[in-house]
Amino acid sequence: MTELRIPFFRPSIDDDDVEAVAGALRSGWLTSAGNVRAFEQELADASGASHVNVVNSATAAMHLALAGWGLGPGDEVITTPYTFVSTATVILHTGASVVFADIRDADFNIDPAAIERAITPRTKAIVPVHFAGEPCQMDEIMALAKVHDLKVLEDAAHAIGSAYHGRPIGSIGDATAFSFYATKNITTGEGGALATNDTELSDAVRQLTLHGMTRDAWNRYGPGGSWRYDIVNLGFKDNMTDFAAALGRSQLRKIDQLRDGRTRAVMRYFQNLRHDEHLQLPAFDPANQQAWHLFAVRIRPSAPVQRDEAAKRMAEKGIGVSVHFIPVHTFSAYRELGPWGPGAFPVAENAFRGALSLPLFPSMTEAEVDEVCEALHDSIRGV
Ligand SMILES: Cc1ncc(COP(=O)(O)O)c(C=O)c1O
Repeated sequence: MTELRIPFFRPSIDDDDVEAVAGALRSGWLTSAGNVRAFEQELADASGASHVNVVNSATAAMHLALAGWGLGPGDEVITTPYTFVSTATVILHTGASVVFADIRDADFNIDPAAIERAITPRTKAIVPVHFAGEPCQMDEIMALAKVHDLKVLEDAAHAIGSAYHGRPIGSIGDATAFSFYATKNITTGEGGALATNDTELSDAVRQLTLHGMTRDAWNRYGPGGSWRYDIVNLGFKDNMTDFAAALGRSQLRKIDQLRDGRTRAVMRYFQNLRHDEHLQLPAFDPANQQAWHLFAVRIRPSAPVQRDEAAKRMAEKGIGVSVHFIPVHTFSAYRELGPWGPGAFPVAENAFRGALSLPLFPSMTEAEVDEVCEALHDSIRGV
């Protein structure tokens, strides 16, 4: 196996990040405290939401939002099959049912017309996913939610720093989940956040994040704290450490710079690949701001070499690639759960057949993009 010359992702951690974490470690507070609270405020300022709850993953953020709204057995939640599995699994963990709606061929985002067809009297919420950082059709989705009295939880694991028609992602739906996983646009190693304008939801999520407890550690062990607490509901354990939040704050200060690095690489990809007749490049709406979390191309059926073999050839040439996404309804654990045999979501299944995500990270150079493009050009032609 050749060592990868260009990895799929290379983290952007600088001395400021290291110093921020070291400072938090030296402060004497390891669990959630001042850095978590400050990170919440700074994320609220950046995303235009009035409340942010910082937690330990986007998965937790989505689960807490659905639990905070009290969803459970008998309820239905509509989402896309073209996502990471946790978007759907958190719905099932509340006891509600998942209803998938197919995607749009152009940008792999959930199709509002498919959402509309999937709505029943049991539908309680819609969970759109901003694939690769390109915002979904939020005007259409919010209009449907209004007519049918549904909650909208945006899975913005890819979309911190994106904006839909001038509005930052985080300020549109009833709640929005961000991810700070290692490869995400800003990272805390593992981490996530829920942004919302709904004070009641934010309060419920704060309690559910920490066992349903009335006092967090700061309020028990901090100045003037008290040991006594009550448990007012059956909660979870999803909080973030203070040193992870210190890393998140340092990363958030550089979010524009990190996005600019990704955007430069993406523009070079477009320049190099736009005339390749065997590739479909990602569609994006110029009225939006893209976080460019991924650069996901589709190898067209006309290509002499198809995706699996092309991905293998890329790896042999020292280029790290990935595939986003294996449609959720095709996984073993999901196959038995719903009315969705092969062919149930043809647009998603077709997108997956050719999908290939190319290396993309803020420090990627033009020479690296050129090398990836050359390797891709050859791989899909069997060279
Ligand atoms: C679309 C999408 N949603 C949710 C997640 C889960 O994020 P986390 O790892 O922070 O729970 C991911 C992670 O890769 C993702 O790509």
